[in-house]
Amino acid sequence: MVVSKPIEGIYPVGAAVDDHGVLTLGGLSVRELINRFDSPLYVMDDATIRQQCRYYTRTLSEVYPNHMVVFAGKACLNLGILNLVAEEGLGVDVVSAGELWTALKSNVPIPSILLHGNNKSLAELEMALNYSVRIVVDHEEELQTILQLVEQRGLMARIMFRLKPEIEAHTHDFIKTGQIDSKFGIDQSDLLRLVRLVKDHPKIRLLGLHSHIGSQIFDSRPYLELADLMAMHTIRVSEELGRPLDEINLGGGIGIQYTGSDDPMPIPDMVSQLAFRLKDNFDRVGLRHPKLILEPGRSIVGSAGVTLYTVGAIKSIPGIKTYLFVDGGMADNIRPMLYQAQYSMCVANKATEPASNQYAVAGRYCESGDVLTHQVALAPVETGDIIAVFGTGAYNFTMASNYNRSPKPAMVLVGHQKATVWVERETLDDLIRLDRI
Ligand SMILES: Cc1ncc(COP(=O)(O)O)c(C=O)c1O
Repeated sequence: MVVSKPIEGIYPVGAAVDDHGVLTLGGLSVRELINRFDSPLYVMDDATIRQQCRYYTRTLSEVYPNHMVVFAGKACLNLGILNLVAEEGLGVDVVSAGELWTALKSNVPIPSILLHGNNKSLAELEMALNYSVRIVVDHEEELQTILQLVEQRGLMARIMFRLKPEIEAHTHDFIKTGQIDSKFGIDQSDLLRLVRLVKDHPKIRLLGLHSHIGSQIFDSRPYLELADLMAMHTIRVSEELGRPLDEINLGGGIGIQYTGSDDPMPIPDMVSQLAFRLKDNFDRVGLRHPKLILEPGRSIVGSAGVTLYTVGAIKSIPGIKTYLFVDGGMADNIRPMLYQAQYSMCVANKATEPASNQYAVAGRYCESGDVLTHQVALAPVETGDIIAVFGTGAYNFTMASNYNRSPKPAMVLVGHQKATVWVERETLDDLIRLDRI
């Protein structure tokens, strides 16, 4: 069951409750936010995003100075978030021309942009090469395409090889990526053969190896295994090349707390354990420490996000359940339908009232499965109340759709009693902008 009261760690840093029992975010009451920006609304908390970035950058500055933290753009991507993480010294990893274009238009420096993807188009590869963006190569066919492109165009490619680590990360099947049958990455047994294809190539710089084991990971065990494995391959490849690899990228995946039953290890502990393990591996063979790249997404933005909805109606099915109908749902948050994701929520304008009633919270879309939660204890709800769903900063906005021709909500950044629009609410005209008759 989903808990009703926000819990520390689930709440953004800038959340509080005012004298009227109304939730405030960044010093602004949710009533005011909805009056100004309409409902539903994605709200992102500046203080939380900065805090999460610093958990990574400060820890690594102490324990592994040669590092780069890149934000996994797929978690939440627009110019506002990129400029904010760039201020905190982070780069970005992107997986499509659209994400790459956003990154190129942001303040993130090009050397801190990485292009991923298991099926990059020719246009995407050319775009990355033209802008000198690092490419994380997923498979041999892609490598062959890059070889042809650099030869035809006389361009230089800076690449990493994505390895399939075959490490079990205990997480949902859809968000695991490192196991043997995963669609991502190069088989370990093929690695040296691919290294030999680029070894003496004048237009290719093999920077290092990459691996990502999955998402919403709570303990360090799989990361320590990954550090050992990737160090071993880095050492082997460095021997083959006759020079030390420049970089090692261990991906993202550190989990966050959505409900009281989630218990992720704190980021500084996770990151320092991983960094020490990596250093031990390299020190043992006397290899200099390559630049350690980490690619956190969810743990940077997840708990910074709160989605605000307005209750439009309440439908009671006697003896069965009482539905609250909110003005959003699966189009702004597909995760409950996609992988049974659970969230914490509260009646934001009654944040201090006891959660004495049981509800199911359903969206407004034409799918029976459009239910944000099947059971949650909340303060007694009336039409017009505001429901705040916590932990919606990652993989909500970026996975949003226009299902039922619904305009996507606005996203605002809050902090220091100010709200800044990061993304405008779509209009009805936006929805027909590309239609032709
Ligand atoms: C290659 C890669 N890096 C980083 C991430 C970010 O993962 P998370 O948001 O769990 O930190 C992902 C997410 O799937 C990914 O595929």
